[in-house]
Amino acid sequence: MMKPTGQTLLKAELHVHIEGAAHPELVARLAARHGKNLDAFMRKDGSYIWSDFTNFLECYDQVADVICTPEDYADLTEDYLLRNAAEGCFYTEFFLSPDHVARLGMSYDNLMEGVSEGYQRARTRSLADGFPIEARFIVTCLRHMGPEAAIKVAERVTAKPHPLVTGFGMGGDERLFSQQAFAPAFAIAHQAGLQCTTHAGEFGGPQSVIDALDHLPVTRIGHGVRSVEDPDLLKRLRNEDITLEVCPQSNIALGLYPSLAEHPLESLMQAGVKTTISSDDPPFFASSIGREYDLFQSQTGWSSQEMEQFTRRSLEAAFIDDETRAGLLRRLA
Ligand code: ADE
Ligand code: ZN
Repeated sequence: MMKPTGQTLLKAELHVHIEGAAHPELVARLAARHGKNLDAFMRKDGSYIWSDFTNFLECYDQVADVICTPEDYADLTEDYLLRNAAEGCFYTEFFLSPDHVARLGMSYDNLMEGVSEGYQRARTRSLADGFPIEARFIVTCLRHMGPEAAIKVAERVTAKPHPLVTGFGMGGDERLFSQQAFAPAFAIAHQAGLQCTTHAGEFGGPQSVIDALDHLPVTRIGHGVRSVEDPDLLKRLRNEDITLEVCPQSNIALGLYPSLAEHPLESLMQAGVKTTISSDDPPFFASSIGREYDLFQSQTGWSSQEMEQFTRRSLEAAFIDDETRAGLLRRLA
């Protein structure tokens, strides 16, 4: 890891899917480790091959299939955290998907063993390099796997609390099932003390955000950008103090908006909604947390102090204990 320079603005990331964070170089290394072929989903230049959202989710699964042992997850967690640290990101929350690893014969315990090891390695390295980092994990169910599978995920994660797992969430195909159908799974997680977020208002439109707020115990919404289409919903997001995990380059790459100039992040802020910036599945969208901040700063011409308000809001909405939050906020100040 290279310690970021004094001028690098401090960042925090709340919304990144762990397999979606796998850098092509690492994926090539893991594929070689397991004798797997990459040609179906990766070009020679390292970019991933996908066309629309459905096909993106399929490509995501192919990449995820290469990450199939606790050691692979340790390497991935360490690699991503150190890449983020080099860009000035000192707090990261990852989405973990037990349903992805189950397809490969890995248990939830295997997954936690791997990611904890990777977290410890990255943390030790970051301390030695003088830029300490922190991270937490949000276990997610997959919407397209249905409500019963989601309950199993919630039961598994709450049966064995892990100090690094502080949240519960839902990703996957927002066009299937309803938010409400997942209320029982979220209730199990929430009652066990996990803080909650769900993907909504990405492909689902503003109504999916309303459904999430009506039926799930969430304090944050993954994406939520399409809330901009409904003034009453904007008011509700303000009143209920909901934070949006906005991932601009993901929205552009997946075709929600043609460019950053047309992306609603600034409008959401003007409406008084709490927004943060994350990268979602960075190598799939030729992005990174540093690039997200840089591109938005170039678009708006904002100062580094103004940009650091995104970091502050991320830490304020982070799924961490108050003491850790206070420590991270002190570093930002
Ligand atoms: N899984 C990974 N990236 C996702 C996205 N942008 N939306 C829903 N599920 C996802
Ligand atoms: Zn996402």
